[in-house]
Amino acid sequence: MTLRDGFNAADIRAAAHALQSGAVVAFPTETVYGLGARADSDAAVARIFEAKGRPVDHPLIVHVADVAAARAHAADWPQAADRLAAAFWPGPLTLIVSRREGVAHAAAAAQPTIGLRCPSHDVARALLRECAALGMAGIAAPSANRFGRLSATTAAHVVQEFGDALMVLDGGACALGIESAIVDCSRGAPVLLRPGGVSRAVLDEALGQPLRVRDNTAPRVSGSLPSHYAPLARLRLLDARALLAAVAQPAALPSVYMATPTVAIYSRTVTPQAEIGRVWRQMPADAEQAAHELFATLREFDALGVSLILVEQPPTDPAWEAIRDRLERAAA
Ligand code: TXA
Ligand code: MG
Repeated sequence: MTLRDGFNAADIRAAAHALQSGAVVAFPTETVYGLGARADSDAAVARIFEAKGRPVDHPLIVHVADVAAARAHAADWPQAADRLAAAFWPGPLTLIVSRREGVAHAAAAAQPTIGLRCPSHDVARALLRECAALGMAGIAAPSANRFGRLSATTAAHVVQEFGDALMVLDGGACALGIESAIVDCSRGAPVLLRPGGVSRAVLDEALGQPLRVRDNTAPRVSGSLPSHYAPLARLRLLDARALLAAVAQPAALPSVYMATPTVAIYSRTVTPQAEIGRVWRQMPADAEQAAHELFATLREFDALGVSLILVEQPPTDPAWEAIRDRLERAAA
C-alpha cells in the first residue's frame, strides 16, 4: 500500500524523492487530486499520459511554488497574468501564457503555450517546496482520474481509479471539489477557457474588465470537450418540472428485481418519494457546498451500480457556472 500521510514531513520527502526519480505521485490540491510528475522530464510526464489513458496532444497544467517559478516556464508574463496571479495565487486559478523555449515540452503537449498554477493546499505547497529544493521547478499534474472520467476529491477516489501501486499523498477531502478556473492570457485580452474554483465575476473584478468569452479559435482543452467528467451511469439533467414528472412514473420492473437501486436522483428543490430501486441525494442549496460534494456524490452513485442518474438543473445564477459546466459535460 503506498498511501502516504500528506501532513507528515517524512512522507512529503518520500513523495518528492519519488518524483525526482521520475515516478508518478498523486497529491491533493484545494480543487481536486492531481497525478503528478516532474515537468522537466518528458519521460516522467509520459507516465502520466499512459496512466490516465490521455491523448498525448492534451496539455497538462504545471504546478509551481510561486510566481518566480511560474515565470521560469513562461516566454513572457503579460500584465493580465501578473494581476491575476497577484490576486488569486496561491489558489484555484490556472493561467495560460506563452511557453519558454525548451521548457516542459511533453507536459505542454508540444504547444507554444503552457498552463501554470500555484495551488494553495498545504500539502501541495509543502510538496512543491520540497521539489524545488531538489531542483524541480514544476510538477505537471492533470486531475487524478482516467481520461474523461470523474475527478477525484479524496485519496480513496484516486486509489479507485489507479489501484494501490500508485503513491498517493493523502491530504483529506479537497476543500473546493471542482477544478481550477483556466484563463488564457497568451492571446491578448484574457479568455476564460474553463469556469472553475474562482468565479468569473471575481476574475473580472480583479482584471478591471470582463473576460472574453471563448471562441472556436481557442486552443483545445480536454476539460472542455463536450463529453467529460462522466460517471459510468448515463446522466440526464432535467429542470424541476421534468424531474418531477420523471420520478412520478412507477418503476418499470417489479421490486423483486430491484433490491439494488437502478436509478439515482440528485435534486435540490424536488424531493422524490422513496421507492424501491431508487436512491436519492439532496443537492446542497449553496453552490460552494454543492461543488464540494459533486464528484463524490456521482462516484457514490456509480459505486451503487445505478444505470441512470437524474440531476436537477442547477440555478442559472453565476455562482453555479462551474457546476453547470461539469454537469452539462457529464450529460453529453
Ligand atoms: O484544479 C485543477 O486544475 C486540477 C488540479 C490537479 O490542479 N488539474 C486539472 O488538470 O484539472 P486537467 O488536466 O484535468 O485539466 C486541465 C485542463 C485540460 O483541459 C487541458 O487541456 C488544459 O487544462 N490546458 C493545460 N495546458 C493548456 C494550454 N497550454 N492551453 C490550453 N489548455 C491547456
Ligand atoms: Mg481533468
